[in-house]
Amino acid sequence: MDLLGGRQVAFNAACRGQWEAFAEHRRCLTDVLARGATSRGSRLCVLGAGNANDLDLPALLAAHREVHLVDIDAESLALGAARQGVAGHPGLRLHGGVDVTATLGVLSGWSPTSAVGRADLDALAAWPVSRAAAVLPGGFDRVASTCLLSQVLETAAHALGRGHRQLADVEAALLAGHLRLMARLAAPGGEAVLVAESVSSDTLAELPSMSPDELAGLQPRLHREGNHFRGMHPQHLLAALRADPSVGPRVASAASLMPWLWRLHARTYLVGGLAFRLGTDYGR
Ligand SMILES: C[S@@+](CC[C@H](N)C(=O)[O-])C[C@H]1O[C@@H](n2cnc3c(N)ncnc32)[C@H](O)[C@@H]1O
Repeated sequence: MDLLGGRQVAFNAACRGQWEAFAEHRRCLTDVLARGATSRGSRLCVLGAGNANDLDLPALLAAHREVHLVDIDAESLALGAARQGVAGHPGLRLHGGVDVTATLGVLSGWSPTSAVGRADLDALAAWPVSRAAAVLPGGFDRVASTCLLSQVLETAAHALGRGHRQLADVEAALLAGHLRLMARLAAPGGEAVLVAESVSSDTLAELPSMSPDELAGLQPRLHREGNHFRGMHPQHLLAALRADPSVGPRVASAASLMPWLWRLHARTYLVGGLAFRLGTDYGR
C-alpha cells in the first residue's frame, strides 16, 4: 500500500475505539441508508465504511438483501464486521484494499512544489470509474459515501500543501471523480447518497449545543457566510453534480439531506450532504 493509503489505515486505528461516541451519528446515518428499503431484495454499497463505527450493520442487513462495504483499509472492515457479530453473514460483502479514487499512488508522489498537469486532473476525474468501479460489483439500489469525501480532499491537501495554487482544481476533479463513481455503481433508477461534513465547531462554536430545528435551517446561513469546508457544502455538491457533463444529465432528482451532529474527539461536525436519484434510462 502507498504512503497515503497507510495514513488512512493509521487514522482508522486511532478511531477504532469510538463505538460509543459514534452512537448518535450511527443512528442518523443508518436511518438514511435503511430508509425506504422495505423490500428484502435491495442492494446497498457503502464507500468509506472503515471501522463501521457509523453503521448499524445488523439493521442494514435487515433492510437490504446485500450490504457491500468498500474501503482502502481491509483490516478495519473485517474488525468492524466482527465487532457487530455479522462477519460471515451471507448478505455482507467486504471489499477491502480498494482505493475509490484510484489515484492515491499518483497523489503519493506529489509535494508542494509539484505542478499538476491537465492529464493529472483528467485522471482524478476519470479513474474512479475506469479503475475503481472495475473491481467492484455494480447495479446497486443505493450507493452511499459516508464522510469519505472529506478524507479524499484532505489527502490531496496533505500531499500538495494547503497553499498550493492548484489545490482547488484538484479538489474539483476529485469531487467529479467521486460523483461519477457513485453514479456508475448505482443501478438505473438507483439512489446515491453523498454524506459529507459541512462545518465543524472549530469555526462554529455554538454547533454542539444547537437543536435539531436549528440544524435544519443552518445550511443556508453557512453558505451565505461562507463558513463551511471548501467544496463540501450541499449547495456546492449539487452545483457540481448538475454541471458534470457525464452525470448531470442523468440525474432525475436531487435533494440535500437533513443534517445532524457527529461528535469526534474534541470536535463536533455538522453532517449533511446530498441524495440524488438516477433516471431509469440511465445507461453506461
Ligand atoms: C472518516 S472515515 C468514515 C468513518 C468510518 N465509516 C468509521 O466508522 O470508522 C473515512 C473512511 O474512508 C476511508 N478512505 C479514505 N480514503 C480512501 C480511499 N481513497 N479509498 C478508499 N477508502 C478511503 C478511510 O480508510 C476511512 O475508513
